[in-house]
Amino acid sequence: MSGDFDDRIITSWHTNAAPWVRAIRQREIVSRVDVTNDAIVSTLRSLRPTHLLDVGCGEGWLCHAMARDGVSCVGVDVVPALIDAARASHPVDAVPGTYAVLAYDAIATGALSDHDVGAFDVIVSNFALIGEAPVETMLAALPALMAPGGHVVIQTLHPVMASLDVPYVDGWREGSWTGFSSEFADAPPWYFRTISSWVALLTQVGLTMRALHEPVFPETGRPASLILCANRAD
Ligand SMILES: C[S@@+](CC[C@H](N)C(=O)[O-])C[C@H]1O[C@@H](n2cnc3c(N)ncnc32)[C@H](O)[C@@H]1O
Repeated sequence: MSGDFDDRIITSWHTNAAPWVRAIRQREIVSRVDVTNDAIVSTLRSLRPTHLLDVGCGEGWLCHAMARDGVSCVGVDVVPALIDAARASHPVDAVPGTYAVLAYDAIATGALSDHDVGAFDVIVSNFALIGEAPVETMLAALPALMAPGGHVVIQTLHPVMASLDVPYVDGWREGSWTGFSSEFADAPPWYFRTISSWVALLTQVGLTMRALHEPVFPETGRPASLILCANRAD
């Protein structure tokens, strides 16, 4: 059953690639523009990356931003249209980037090149760890891709804020495009994890938790997201 939900996530992102590119490039998602984009960029900058992997990179905005800072970036995503958009708009005056169409399942089974093994000092995933089993198997593969002392940084919906009306337990939830343009269709389901489940999952795959950040909306003081930072346990 959970495999069906994981498959629906991928189908939905294929369907919604074009509106997604527009939404990001036209700065339509207020929480991103007001809080979460800066939050993830400043968290990454504080780690001083040189070679970064962006898992579920979408249309590439985060790789583009880090490449402008001088970071060599590899962006991977399952949707070819998003990878094409990321590659086509990589800034010409920045460090060159590499983009590849890859599902999390493929990362888990070693699809990144030998060149990438042990290479990344930072691996980031920004609002892209949506599913269940493929996310877990992919996370288990990350330590082998990381340089010694490397970092994993994950930004996700804040679990407490995403659970105000429902019990605070792990499980599949129906998606919604509420607040997005009417061009979006077929909202992907998502696998909800509590904060303690995120920490347990990262620990279970051999990472050591280093920090949790909870950026807030300036007007309300409420959390806009959760950022989990972990290290390769060497
Ligand atoms: C909400 S978007 C975030 C994109 C980007 N990280 C950003 O910050 O704009 C989620 C992304 O995760 C990707 N994704 C979801 N499940 C995936 C999977 N199993 N394998 C690879 N990419 C996946 C989608 O294609 C989509 O681009």
